[in-house]
Amino acid sequence: MKGTTSFYLLTDTHLVSKSNWVDAPPINRRERGDQIALKASPEILDAFLAKIIADKDTDNVIFIGDNVNSGDIASHEDFRARLDRLKAAGKKVYVTTATHDYCSPNGEDECFQHDAVRYTETGTEPTAFLLRRDLAAFYNDYGPKQALSVDPESGSYTVQLGDGVRMILIIDNGNGRSHCGLFEEGMQWLADQIKDAKATGNFVMLAVHHPVISPWEVYRHLVEYELYGGYRELSELMCSEGVRVVFTGHTHVQNIRKYTDDAGRWFVDVSTTAAVSAKGQMRHVTVNADTGDCDIQSVGLETLPGIDTGGQSAYDYLYGLNFAGRVERFFPLLKTDFDRFLEETNGVLPAEKLRAHKTLAKLGLRTAAGLKLSFAAKLGKVWRSLTPQQKKAAKQTKLFDVLFTIFRHIYPGNAPYTPDTLEYTVLHALMQRLDRLVEKHKIEKVQKLIPPGSSLTEMGEDFLYNNRTGDDNAIRLNLNTTS
Ligand SMILES: [Fe+2]
Ligand SMILES: [Fe+2]
Repeated sequence: MKGTTSFYLLTDTHLVSKSNWVDAPPINRRERGDQIALKASPEILDAFLAKIIADKDTDNVIFIGDNVNSGDIASHEDFRARLDRLKAAGKKVYVTTATHDYCSPNGEDECFQHDAVRYTETGTEPTAFLLRRDLAAFYNDYGPKQALSVDPESGSYTVQLGDGVRMILIIDNGNGRSHCGLFEEGMQWLADQIKDAKATGNFVMLAVHHPVISPWEVYRHLVEYELYGGYRELSELMCSEGVRVVFTGHTHVQNIRKYTDDAGRWFVDVSTTAAVSAKGQMRHVTVNADTGDCDIQSVGLETLPGIDTGGQSAYDYLYGLNFAGRVERFFPLLKTDFDRFLEETNGVLPAEKLRAHKTLAKLGLRTAAGLKLSFAAKLGKVWRSLTPQQKKAAKQTKLFDVLFTIFRHIYPGNAPYTPDTLEYTVLHALMQRLDRLVEKHKIEKVQKLIPPGSSLTEMGEDFLYNNRTGDDNAIRLNLNTTS
């Protein structure tokens, strides 16, 4: 009997050291324009750590990149101190890195971050950062040092998580503009590692920062380079070797998607939302090493110790920090105090432009804000087929409320409107009408975004309800390579 092995997996913790900012407009503007919490990132990470440490039955913890927000040394040191804390609590900790973990002053190493900054009262000032080549040594204790095997080119490594259970942690440093993923020798190393794990009686799983399966069709067509670079080759390898699961991050989207090839071979990409998202989650995974049964669950935070949320839940507080949350929160001001609306959403909406065309902007935004779902139903030519009850509801439902609800589910997953809802009926019909219009008028700019054989309707469905595995937060599968 080999028993069970468990681990927690976190991604995109985007830690920002407290020493990197003073509470003033520059950091606040930066945070507003983002989609994750920056100032509260240490408290959020600590809250996750507290849960992990309290769980005496789970002794492995894995982080898969974008551990810090902008590659600066202060944040890396704060992050590593937390790894030390986990280790002191008896946990085995494994870390990989990604593009937010380093800077490249000359634009080399596929990195947007040329330098790291500290946010002052009035602006920013440069601060010390790590280069990509510094990372392996910095995290050696929490990576290669514990490995069964290390790929010399990428630094990817294999670890024994427990009796009969191995994890291969792939480092795909690169942002996909010219490279993201393993080169030929790295792929050979990976294939050998999978074979070795199987030959020695282990179940094997993979983890890599960039997604192998796109969370949504539209993502693949707009930003395919954001996927793990060799995703087709890796998918083929997983299918042919029967590797059942890869854990990914980067998109900040909670998403579980199954890929099945033409021969019926399959694997699942478990993409985990950023730990510092409004609805940040970590995965908790248990593998029965005798049967291969693998149970994947999600764990979030209900409270944020150390943060004054003003009586709000952790989610409401964090959601309100960033662009969508801010627009939603201050939306009522559109009617009563347009100037304050612009002020509060500055850094999110183009306040200067809107101010320059104030009358038009005010009218346009107010009109849009007042639109009801019935308007969309008429536009989608589905109004007549609605029941009187549905018509009544459509007249009472604000279109923006529906759109905000959809947006609230983009990162946490499990989109809200299943096919039996009025919202689905109306929006689905509207998208179908748009498809017809795009086709009829040959609107090339839109047509370019639609993959062959697909449609706006099909792509939009991803955002209406979970048309994938049924639940983005949990799945049970069996890791047997032949099942
Ligand atoms: Fe990230
Ligand atoms: Fe990333």
